[in-house]
Amino acid sequence: MKAGVRAADVGCGHGASTIIMAQQYPNSHFSAFDYHRPSIDAATTTAQKAGLADQITFGVAAAQDFPGKDYDLVCFFDCLHDMGDPIGAAKHVLSTLSPDGTWMIVEPFANDRIEDNLNPVGRVYYSASTLICTPASVAQDGAMALGAQAGEAKIREVVTAAGFTRFRRASETPFNLVFEARP
Ligand SMILES: C[S@@+](CC[C@H](N)C(=O)[O-])C[C@H]1O[C@@H](n2cnc3c(N)ncnc32)[C@H](O)[C@@H]1O
Repeated sequence: MKAGVRAADVGCGHGASTIIMAQQYPNSHFSAFDYHRPSIDAATTTAQKAGLADQITFGVAAAQDFPGKDYDLVCFFDCLHDMGDPIGAAKHVLSTLSPDGTWMIVEPFANDRIEDNLNPVGRVYYSASTLICTPASVAQDGAMALGAQAGEAKIREVVTAAGFTRFRRASETPFNLVFEARP
């Protein structure tokens, strides 16, 4: 990314992650998508104010059909579990990546078993998920309803069902899991 890549930030919301990456990696270009037009409008304004209009291209598009080919990196920050058809989204990501590209998936931290998530962070995530993430995904076609506490095993299932051949937990914090998927 320091040398310069073509990256996509999908489900970018107000573009916070896109803007941070663009500032950090001035030689890279970012295409950023979300299916929610008001979020893309807000993201576009914020990026313009930050002087990043030439480095980021925003567009209204769903994860299942966003435009572009041969991305070196596709990022999903905290949004795969919100999608009604995460496998459809994963298949589309695979079709847009360069042969040596990487899909980075950042998800809320979760263990695979409910009883292992009944800690302060997990309880907050289950509550938020019940009000926000799960209804958002059920409202979309597919309704897989991963919820904010999907966990590594479920995300692996989604990614491998889509045809990715490599998947690993690349990193984690107390609040997030970071996965790397490769074609
Ligand atoms: C929790 S927010 C995360 C936003 C941003 N990535 C961030 O970390 O600040 C989830 C985002 O996913 C978007 N989203 C949900 N389903 C989507 C879909 N099928 N295609 C594109 N975006 C989607 C929502 O509009 C929302 O902006």
